[in-house]
Amino acid sequence: MSKSAIDHRDRLEELNGKLANLGMRGYWQLRHDADRMEPKLWRWADIYPALMETANVVRIGPDTFRRNVGLQTGSRTISMGFQIVLPGEAAPPHRHTNTALRFVIKGGGAYTTSNGEPMIMYPGDLLIQPNWAWHDHANHSNEPIIWIDALDSGLVNFLNASFREEWSEGMNQPLTKKDGASRRLYGPARQPVLQYESPGVPYHYKWSETLEALQELAEQCVRDPHDDVLLEYKNPINTSRGMSTIVSVFLRGAGTSTVTVPRPNLPFCFH
Ligand SMILES: [Fe+2]
Repeated sequence: MSKSAIDHRDRLEELNGKLANLGMRGYWQLRHDADRMEPKLWRWADIYPALMETANVVRIGPDTFRRNVGLQTGSRTISMGFQIVLPGEAAPPHRHTNTALRFVIKGGGAYTTSNGEPMIMYPGDLLIQPNWAWHDHANHSNEPIIWIDALDSGLVNFLNASFREEWSEGMNQPLTKKDGASRRLYGPARQPVLQYESPGVPYHYKWSETLEALQELAEQCVRDPHDDVLLEYKNPINTSRGMSTIVSVFLRGAGTSTVTVPRPNLPFCFH
């Protein structure tokens, strides 16, 4: 083994050790465990330097096909972690039976193409790629982008229903729609009978619009009994909860009152 390869191996092992100390694990560390789910807090001040070190050390291609660092929540149904895409990087198109959501944390201007629609991502945006929707990522901005990935991997694997297909026609899907198409096509003015190409529709919830709604509710003093100002991301097709397997994503406004969360019977992740 060459000196540079040994150096890289040592750096990777050192990084893996640091991530383990933070209760985190890289996608490239294949390991199966069945930890019990316990309440846990991850602090951004700890996570962010580790993610940036990950960006420096882990190479797309030789080390992994996606730079994802998972949170070790202990959940057997939902996997959750951070994905980092550096300027100039891209993730090739594919689709799978997992449903995924992406919640943008940092960066801006990169985009995820989903069933031909470029969804330009900014902090606070939520993207949903339902099962069997084509998707790929590209970062043509000049800064890294970091988002939270959540997938129903554990549940789908348990059902032995995990399938995947790679796009066979290059590194990017053709852009067949314009940014914002999903919000226009599946809004209140829609086809009498919706026609779409996969079991669910990819959707892009813009933070700028959601924040305005939160602020309006706060200004009008419309309060939830438990959660101050509260919104729930609904499925745009049938207004049920956002995704059948990940359940739903809520928004809580930053109020001054104490929030009383009823004891849940489902795992929650707060950001
Ligand atoms: Fe994917």
